[in-house]
Amino acid sequence: MKLWQKDVPHDEVASSFASSSDRDLDMRLLPFDCKASIAHAKSLHKIGILESEELAAIKGALTDLLSLVEKGEFTISEEDEDCHSAIERYLTEKLGDTGRKIHTCRSRNDQVLCALRLCYIYEIEGIVDAALDVIAMLKKLIAEKGDVAFAGHTHTRKAMPTTIKDWADGYVASICDSISSLEFVAKILSSNPLGTGAGYGLPIQTDRRFVADELSFRSVDINGIYSQISRTKHDKMLLSSLNAFMYDLNRLSSDIILFSYPDMGYFKIEKSMTTGSSIMPQKTNPDVLEVVRGYYAVISGYETQVAALAHNLISGYHRDLQLSKGAVFNSFDIVLSSLSIMEKVLVTLDVCEDACKKSLSPEVFLTEKAYDLVRKGVPFRAAYRKVADEYFSGSKDRE
Ligand code: ARG
Repeated sequence: MKLWQKDVPHDEVASSFASSSDRDLDMRLLPFDCKASIAHAKSLHKIGILESEELAAIKGALTDLLSLVEKGEFTISEEDEDCHSAIERYLTEKLGDTGRKIHTCRSRNDQVLCALRLCYIYEIEGIVDAALDVIAMLKKLIAEKGDVAFAGHTHTRKAMPTTIKDWADGYVASICDSISSLEFVAKILSSNPLGTGAGYGLPIQTDRRFVADELSFRSVDINGIYSQISRTKHDKMLLSSLNAFMYDLNRLSSDIILFSYPDMGYFKIEKSMTTGSSIMPQKTNPDVLEVVRGYYAVISGYETQVAALAHNLISGYHRDLQLSKGAVFNSFDIVLSSLSIMEKVLVTLDVCEDACKKSLSPEVFLTEKAYDLVRKGVPFRAAYRKVADEYFSGSKDRE
């Protein structure tokens, strides 16, 4: 029987359709919902809804449930539809009336927000660590080969000299900005929504600051209407920040793919990080970097999906909101694995000093030549014209 069972049997197809993929996706939320439920039970004890023995029993049962989840020995049944009802059913089956008290002073609407925020903050820490590992590898490259100069490009044409240090530092700066953006989102997420109920408060109040402290939230949601409006807004901000990393990795992948193109050869990708062809025996392809590059488009799609879900909804909870969960979880997984594989590519990336040196053909220094004239007092445009004319008349000679 469903928690919300009415006086007529529910239609199985309709309720399973409404649950969408929640039974699978919520396995990821379960540990966070258990943790939040322990904090919630403590707050119920604080206001006298739970006796001390009841609190101890609930804590014990939720700890058991957590270990079942960790061992992969717990699943969310069809009857349960999501992790929130699964927890209540488990406690009721184990503890009878004591379990029936757990949903006092909460709704699944504030419960899901709480579990999601805890889960997101946890996942964000993993992403930041992985991004710092990529930065460490870029810095290692700088320490070992930073002084090596090569021709930088604009419009995929040779432009001016640059160095491995400047090139790698550019990506370090970009990834640092992405980290700041994600950490800012984590700060916004760090607010306790539990106790706002379905969005309109609850007839009996819990100590919401106490729950915030128990769960290490920085602050407490003041307005329950905003708690409910916030869900897709936060998801949208989160995906935009997550996609900032994919933007960095997309550009970095494109650079490494081009720079390791055999005729250019600034870089050599370690053979074990390349893939072969089923027909052409000579091929060592940069598929890994192509997949990383392509994932930027995939996360951009999720970003659009989540943004679209929030359109035209009135305030309050709507089941539409549930449909951003998969997009966000998949995005966390993709960004984390992309950062990890990029770290692996960078660890073994070889800088070919000869090829870098060879790329520094005379035209790469023409801007510098124009500035030599500027240093001697020639107006920039005149200096530019002179150097350009010399170069292009020379190139006619060369033709
Ligand atoms: N699985 C739901 C979600 O992700 C939980 C909240 C359900 N609330 C409700 N009123 N049906 O949004």
